[in-house]
Amino acid sequence: MRATISPSPSRGLQSRREELQRALTPASVAIVGAKDASATSYGVVEALNRVGFGGRIFAVNRSGTPAHGLPTFASCAAIGEPVDTAVLLVPAGAVGDVLDDAAAAGIRTAVVLASGWAETGLAGAADQEALVGRARQLGITVIGPNCLGFMNVAARAGAWVASFPRDMRQGPVGIVSQSGGMGNALVDLAAEFGIGVSCVVTTGNEPMVTTTDVLEYLIEDDGTASVAMFTEAIADPARFLAAAARARELGKAIVILKAGSSTLAARNAVSHTGSLVGDDRVVDAALRQCAAIRVRSLEELIVTADVAARTGPLRAPGVAVVSISGGSVDIVADEAARLGLDLPQFGEPASRAITAALPGFAAVRNPLDITGAALGDEFEQVLRIVDKQQEFGVVAVLCNVPAYDSCKVAGIGGLLTTIGRGLGSIATPGFLLSQSIAHLNEAGRAAARAAGVCALPGLSLGTAALARLTWWSRRLAAAGARSAAQPAPPPPRAPPGGGAISEWAARQLLEQAGVPFVPAVLARSASAAAQAAAGFGGPVAVKLVSPDVPHKSDIAAVRLGVEGAARVRQAFADVVAAGLTHRPGIRVEGVQIAPMRRGGVELVAGVTRDPHWGLVLAVGLGGLLVEVVADLAVRLLPVTDADIEEMLGELRGSAVLGGVRGERPADRVAAVTAIRRIADAAWGLGGELASLEVNPLRVDHAGAEALDALVELRPRDLALGEAAS
Ligand SMILES: Nc1ncnc2c1ncn2[C@@H]1O[C@H](COP(=O)(O)OP(=O)(O)OP(=O)(O)O)[C@@H](O)[C@H]1O
Ligand SMILES: [Mg+2]
Repeated sequence: MRATISPSPSRGLQSRREELQRALTPASVAIVGAKDASATSYGVVEALNRVGFGGRIFAVNRSGTPAHGLPTFASCAAIGEPVDTAVLLVPAGAVGDVLDDAAAAGIRTAVVLASGWAETGLAGAADQEALVGRARQLGITVIGPNCLGFMNVAARAGAWVASFPRDMRQGPVGIVSQSGGMGNALVDLAAEFGIGVSCVVTTGNEPMVTTTDVLEYLIEDDGTASVAMFTEAIADPARFLAAAARARELGKAIVILKAGSSTLAARNAVSHTGSLVGDDRVVDAALRQCAAIRVRSLEELIVTADVAARTGPLRAPGVAVVSISGGSVDIVADEAARLGLDLPQFGEPASRAITAALPGFAAVRNPLDITGAALGDEFEQVLRIVDKQQEFGVVAVLCNVPAYDSCKVAGIGGLLTTIGRGLGSIATPGFLLSQSIAHLNEAGRAAARAAGVCALPGLSLGTAALARLTWWSRRLAAAGARSAAQPAPPPPRAPPGGGAISEWAARQLLEQAGVPFVPAVLARSASAAAQAAAGFGGPVAVKLVSPDVPHKSDIAAVRLGVEGAARVRQAFADVVAAGLTHRPGIRVEGVQIAPMRRGGVELVAGVTRDPHWGLVLAVGLGGLLVEVVADLAVRLLPVTDADIEEMLGELRGSAVLGGVRGERPADRVAAVTAIRRIADAAWGLGGELASLEVNPLRVDHAGAEALDALVELRPRDLALGEAAS
């Protein structure tokens, strides 16, 4: 559970950044609760030593008993010289008093390890709120509580309450983790894989410093080229999206492991799509739209962040794969197909040049198996040829690094050297994908380093990281191409009052926004209905029009294929009766008569309000399928035609739009335009809208047409409240 206090609500980006800058670069640290016998306090000292901290470290405990050979005091105030940061190893109950003491010593940052706050329930949340109130009064920035602190590897300073790897390398990957444990695991992994880190921050319950705050900071940090982020919930989505936009501008990747598809925030929307679009799908859509790379494991998180930090956005999304093992080529080809990794073929001149460089090898294709016989300078030659082909943004060389002292035995050391020379001599960024994770032990890493290659741990992890890298590069290029702003459509005028409005009213609202509808007449008497049906000719659909019946079929208030005046009159009476039987006293606006349509594909386009991310568009295959298979694509609003085209392509059943069972292909452009107008109408309604759904939107070869519409408005006070905030 999270705190309810909003972190420093009124402050701007600049002041938040300055505060973090100060907090993350302490020149002196007091460890409160330090004891010789405590592995925890010893760990803080050891971590600082391992990172090469040059500042002063003080131990503080109530009795003033010396600890860890440090200058020890009975209170922070007793230290008698300025201290920047306190690490609080005391229990939750003692934290408040320690903050007072820390403030007396001029300390401005406190890292709080103790758990037992908002994560435990209401009482804990109140304690946490009190803690933050006190800290604000005292002018102290609290990192945590319930966290493991931070380590600024680049600045050689920190307050890290866990073991810290001895051989951590400084580098371009920034790490922020809400969970201390995951932060710790990431740091260990980074060290294990030889990945360089700029700064790692764990935020715990984050009532004052959130993962989003740290993200903002790291994005602007010159020493950070990518951010690896672990979180259970994204704090302040609007600011997260702004940080992501800034990251795109700077060509820095945000790689995120968002765990815990938390309990569904209740969506009160009456629409189908409202209940079908789960939290995690919205997060997925948001991350994808802002080009944050979502991964599913800690390993992928750190390796992808490393790869993206090394290359930045690629010049092209294609990957060239060169290997000495046919087996590994097959694995990578399979993975590439699964992950959508683009492996363009070699062009004509490149193929000829490769054939000349590899006499006797017939199969010149990407991925390229130059076989184990190629132990000379073939690698170098091939890499230089590949480098000239513009479709390749990155090169992957598949080869084992020597795990033991096998360099001399198998000649792999020499091979590694030639690969290193090749990769070093080309402009295209390149990685070595070790065939398995086993070989990336100390000996392997040392050999790779000596050869000047960046070795990724294993084929699957390496291929996945490259797939994410190319996806991100493509996304950035597309974002750049799309930034030409779409003119905002004039917002439709919503009728006053909240709640669902009738299909007829919804239709009028959406028609203002240019959404195409099946022609229809609102009949207020049986004879008017019969007259309308005669006007259309042929069979008609007869539907009750009432704001109190959002789903008409559910109560048999829809009659389809009704033909002939007598039947139309009967259907009129039946649907009204169905409504009044369902609930006496419902408001009946009339009965809608529309010509029956046949064939085509029924889509659903719905907009729903996510409590964190705002208005969300879902597009799917309509009718029964919507509820059964939930084949939906999701995006945050606003969207462009290109987004919608992409959404249609994502549907598992998208092939039906191409025409199946003798149907002609559906008019995709008409579908996209209609959906964009629906989305624009929703976006224009903004805070006034609770949910909106067109189900079905019927599409055939001749165009797209809405056969039904459902709009639910929010009470005005809610809508205005939102606009003001
Ligand atoms: N003019 C029409 N021509 C052909 N079929 C129609 C027509 N109008 C409605 N239908 C069919 O009848 C179904 C039910 O109609 P409609 O969508 O208006 O009712 P509903 O029960 O309120 O819908 P929902 O399930 O979205 O709440 C539609 O999904 C569509 O398949
Ligand atoms: Mg419907």
